[in-house]
Amino acid sequence: MQTILLTWWTWYIWSHWAVKLLELGYDVVIIDNLSNSDKSILEKIQKITWKTPKFYEWDLRDKNILEKIFKENNIKTILHFAWAKAVWESCEIPFYYYENNLAWSINLFEIMNKYNCKNIIFSSSATVYDSIWNPPYIETDLTWNTTNPYWTTKFLIENILKDLATFKSFKVVNLRYFNPIWAHFSWLIWENPNWLPNNLLPYVMKVATWELKNVKVFWNDYNTKDWTWERDYIHILDLIDWHIASINFIENFDNNKWFFEVFNLWTWTATSVLEIIKITCEVTEKNIPFEIVPRRPWDLDKSFCNPEKAENILNWKAKYLVKDAIKDSWYFIKNNSK
Ligand code: UFG
Repeated sequence: MQTILLTWWTWYIWSHWAVKLLELGYDVVIIDNLSNSDKSILEKIQKITWKTPKFYEWDLRDKNILEKIFKENNIKTILHFAWAKAVWESCEIPFYYYENNLAWSINLFEIMNKYNCKNIIFSSSATVYDSIWNPPYIETDLTWNTTNPYWTTKFLIENILKDLATFKSFKVVNLRYFNPIWAHFSWLIWENPNWLPNNLLPYVMKVATWELKNVKVFWNDYNTKDWTWERDYIHILDLIDWHIASINFIENFDNNKWFFEVFNLWTWTATSVLEIIKITCEVTEKNIPFEIVPRRPWDLDKSFCNPEKAENILNWKAKYLVKDAIKDSWYFIKNNSK
């Protein structure tokens, strides 16, 4: 089995991938500076899989360190997350995003090229789609008119990878995530931020456990089924399977050919903010209080895509419903509060 490198740095993301890849028999190498995590996650991965991934507690800024990783491991494919991921934060501290997401990605690509390791699966984002397009988005919709630094970094990395495919024979699977929701069926790992959650589901969960008073619903006069924002939420286990399909796609592709392929992923079910709250009420058997507050300036009323390309080419289809993800999250919380 080949060696896969996972970069960095939100542990709750790569931990899920590490578990799946180890279970499938891949050798896993991780680089993470632990700025948003701690080493206990390695014990949890070990507890689930009975295997320990090779771990480098560094980030991507130092090319010498990157070289060391490539010298010490026969890396075949890279899952590059580059995921400082909050739009509001990127507006407050843009240079942090340019450096972490963009500059250090370029370091990685340079060293990949030097060591002739050219297979990469990049975690891009639905954020690249311009609001001038009406959902469902398709992969060929133009993405150039960026309006925040997070979007700019994703847009630029996508285009750098496209160049590297053309001129340096990289094989690139560029995955545009929509709204992933995290929970692992082992109930050992999930997205559980120590600070005020930025995303909807972790926030709703903290209201369900009475750590927060109520859910702030960001306005309700949009052109949607119940006037609140609609999104496509994807269970993390589906997202992981999508990456596995992408690894297989790269492995089975003609060895001499470069490519840059973009894929959307969706479950074909748009869910509104109020629906998320309603499902959480059903699952937790609690009444989740909420209030309507002013909108966030960057939000789109609807964000979902057409996933047919991924379904046809990667032979991938989402298996889990939003309710499954919410159930798994809730079981995790109950399991961990015992
Ligand atoms: N929302 C609320 N209250 C909250 C949090 C969110 O009403 O407390 C609403 C938002 O307005 C949005 C929906 O819930 O309509 C989902 O919001 P999230 O913050 O969970 O997710 P976003 O759709 O804003 O952002 C996500 C990722 C980004 C990515 C983007 C692409 O977090 O990294 O999808 O569409 F860029």
